[in-house]
Formats: sequence, C-alpha cells, structure tokens
Amino acid sequence: MKFFTEMMYLVAALLFVTGIKKMNKPETARRGNLISACGMMLAIVATVLEFKILEPLYILVGLAVGALIGATLARIVKMTEMPQMVALLNGYGGLASLLVGWAEYYKQYTMALDPLFPHSIELYTSITLVLTILVGGVTFSGSVIAWAKLKEVMTGKPILFKGQQLVNAAILTSALVGGVLFVTDPVNSILLLIVLTLVALILGVTSVIPIGGADMPVVISLLNSYSGIAGSLAGFVIQNNVLIVTGALVGASGLILTNIMCKAMNRSLANVLFSGFGATSTSDGEKAKGSVKPVSVEDAYLILEAARSVVIVPGYGLAVAQAQHAVRELADLLEKNDCDVKFAIHPVAGRMPGHMNVLLAEANVSYDKLYEMEAVNPIMESVDVCLVVGANDVVNPAAREDAKSPIYGMPIIDADKAKTVIVMKRSMASGFAGIENPLFYRENTRMLFGDAKNVLQGLVAEFKK
Ligand code: TAP
Repeated sequence: MKFFTEMMYLVAALLFVTGIKKMNKPETARRGNLISACGMMLAIVATVLEFKILEPLYILVGLAVGALIGATLARIVKMTEMPQMVALLNGYGGLASLLVGWAEYYKQYTMALDPLFPHSIELYTSITLVLTILVGGVTFSGSVIAWAKLKEVMTGKPILFKGQQLVNAAILTSALVGGVLFVTDPVNSILLLIVLTLVALILGVTSVIPIGGADMPVVISLLNSYSGIAGSLAGFVIQNNVLIVTGALVGASGLILTNIMCKAMNRSLANVLFSGFGATSTSDGEKAKGSVKPVSVEDAYLILEAARSVVIVPGYGLAVAQAQHAVRELADLLEKNDCDVKFAIHPVAGRMPGHMNVLLAEANVSYDKLYEMEAVNPIMESVDVCLVVGANDVVNPAAREDAKSPIYGMPIIDADKAKTVIVMKRSMASGFAGIENPLFYRENTRMLFGDAKNVLQGLVAEFKK
C-alpha cells in the first residue's frame, strides 16, 4: 500500500510540474490549471486510501462541501477582486499548515507522555514543527491584512509609526529565540508554543500594515510563497512527500513571481516591504503644466478613422469598466478600416499579474496582437494614435523624466511618444500610485473623459454609422 501511495504521489508531483509549465503561456494556461487540479485530487485520494484517518464518507462530504464553496466563489468573484481572493486562499494555506503543526505537536506530546515509554520529541520534528507554526501564522494573519486592505475593510494606505522597523525586528527576534527555547524542551513547552503562535500572528499583521495598497499584489505573491514554504515544512513534520514537493513548488514560483513584479516596477523587494510607498498622498512629480485638451467621442472617432496604426494600452480602468469586449470590437473595426492594431501590455497594468492578458483573452483578442512593453516602445514614435484605456501609472512619463517622482525608474509604455495620444478615463484623478501624470497635459494628448465601456461603445457606434 505504501508503495502504491508513493507512486500516486510521484504522478501527482509530475502533474503539478507539467501544470505549472503550461501556465506560462496564455494559450495553455487553462489546461495547466486543470492538470494541476487533477494532480491535487490524486494526492488527496491516495492520502485518504493510505491513512484511513476518518470514515471515507466524512472525507467525501468535506471534499464536496469544499469544492462547492471554492467553485461558487471562483464563479462569482469579479476579475478586479481576484487579488483579494488569492489573498484569502494564501491565508487558508498558512492556517492549514499552522493547524497541521499543532495537530502533530498534540500527537507527539501525548506519545511522549506514555507512562510505559516516556521520551522527548525528536529534534528534527520539533524544529520543523515550530517553523511550520511560525511561517503558517505569519502567512495567515499577513494574508488577512492584505485581504482587508484590498477589500477596503481597512485603509489601503501604509500604516506607519516611529521605530516600526525596530519593533518588527524585535518581534522577529523574540520568535526566533522562543523557537530555539522550544526546541530544547518541546514536551514541557506547550505554553511557549501558544505564545509563539500568537507572536507569529502579530508579526504577520505588523509586517503587512506598513505596506501600501498599490504594493499589495507583490505582498500577496510573497505571502503565496510563504504559504508554500509553510506547506513544505508541514510536509517535513508529517513526512509526507507530496506535501513537501507541492509546498516547495508554490514557495519557489511565488518567489519568482515576486521578483518579476519588483523588476517591472524597478523597485527592490526591500523597498516594497519597508518604504511605505504611497503613504504621502499625491507626491508632486512634475507639476501640471499647461491645460488639458478634452475631446468628444465624435472628434476622437475622426482621429482614429484617419489613423493607419493604433496602439491600445489597457489599464486597471478597463477592468473596472469591464470594457474588454467593447475594446475588441473597436479593434476589429479599426482593422477593417485598414489600420494596424496592437495591444501594448505592461507587466503590472491592472492589479494582478497577467490581469490584462486574462481580460483580453476573455474577449477573444488573439494572442498575437498582444505586445510586451519592450517590443512596442521602439516603434512608438511611428505610431499614429496611442489609445490609453483606463491606464495611468504605466504610461506616466515622470517615471522616465522626473528623478523626484516616486515611480522614477519604473519601466513604462512610452505612450507620450506616439504622434497623437487619446487618454480615456473618467476624470483627472490619479492612478494607484497617487501621483500626477504629466502625459495628460502634453501637446499631443487629447483627454476623452467618460467610463471606458460607454466611450468605447460610442466610438464603435460612430464607426458603424
Ligand atoms: P492605474 O494607474 O491604477 O490607473 C487606472 C486609471 O483608470 C485611473 O487613473 C482611473 O482614472 C481610471 N479608471 C478607473 N475606472 C475607470 C472607468 N470605469 N473607466 C475609465 N477609466 C477608469 O492603473 P494602471 O495604469 O493599470 O497601473 C497599475 C498600477 O497598479 C501601477 O501603479 C502598478 O505599479 C500597480 N500595481 C500593479 C500590480 C500588478 S501585478 N498588476 C502589482 C503591484 C502594483 P479615473 O478615476 O479618472 O477614471
């Protein structure tokens, strides 16, 4: 039986790796997700059959209830609320590892007190156990705070106070010292383990509150990595190979994604975690120079109708307005009008990795029309019209030109270099970074105010007249 289970675990691990590999391309991502889910199902079934922990019926009912809740949530969650959902899922992962740690401690504790064979808990077990509880606790409470910030249950602004980093360092040190003390005498340290659990939960809260809402996707990706590490550690505690492998995969992929996002914003992880980015509202950046030039839908249509090449830059506003279908329709009409259309995708446009790719894929925009920032920037000067749809920070030239800007150095799509720029948004409000955008005041920029979906539908109607 043990051999059969280990074989099933091996197949599950292979399915996870294949699934993750397929997720790196939009065309194969759905299949990758399904393959990974099958791997997880296989791992669960093998575990249930091997360990016979509970009546299979209870487990089946649990599985059905969990699957129902998960499927319902995944169906009803809006694309814009996906990061919140991922935050919660990470939190559950952390909590599950924490509970596994405690359950194993309880088991080892009762075994150690056996009057016929009193003994201590093995060093290896107590080290992995206390680490599981610490990392699981930080992941759980940190994810709940990340969820609350994104859900706007609490302020999205960084919460900062004097000596904050010292306080965090002190909490971390006490957790480590407590962990060492626990390991020296685990059987008599039940109270210490309770305190350590509380310390881990507090550390999760104090390390996420100083981080601003705009940086939350990076934090969520990091917490995702923590949840994988906690899971892997839990796997070491209960000596379960598939848990070790799955946890390590999640841990590593979370770290890689965190790194990609930091690079796309030209910021270090330390800057994201400790700088309190966004604490001061509207940093000046380049002060508004000149006046903006609003344009009507009819006039914007005339500009677009005459254009031979258009680059569309989608941003968070496109997601909010759910304008992906309308933008696809406009792109189709432009192409029919003998115009070359490209979509320029910035790696951190929107609020989560791949946000724009997912939205445009939903509207059946073909993948070969999507261009990465590096591919589109060199041709920007020859583009007739750059149509910015609900994007702001990712086209802010201050990132290139204003050394005092908080986003200075962040790679951007050079929308301002196009012959004409049409910016579609509802007002002059700032984007997530909370800073002014000089692009709106440039000589070649026209502001097309309104909800992205309504405005795009207006343009489509003009083309169809
Ligand atoms: P933002 O800079 O947040 O700008 C979005 C703009 O959309 C806003 O200025 C808003 O202006 C407009 N808007 C909102 N609702 C709209 C609607 N219904 N119709 C039309 N426009 C609407 O978005 P971005 O350019 O996509 O940049 C993303 C930001 O998130 C960056 O700062 C990035 O660093 C940050 N971030 C993203 C990620 C990932 S992984 N995606 C990770 C970390 C941080 P109005 O209110 O005037 O309409």
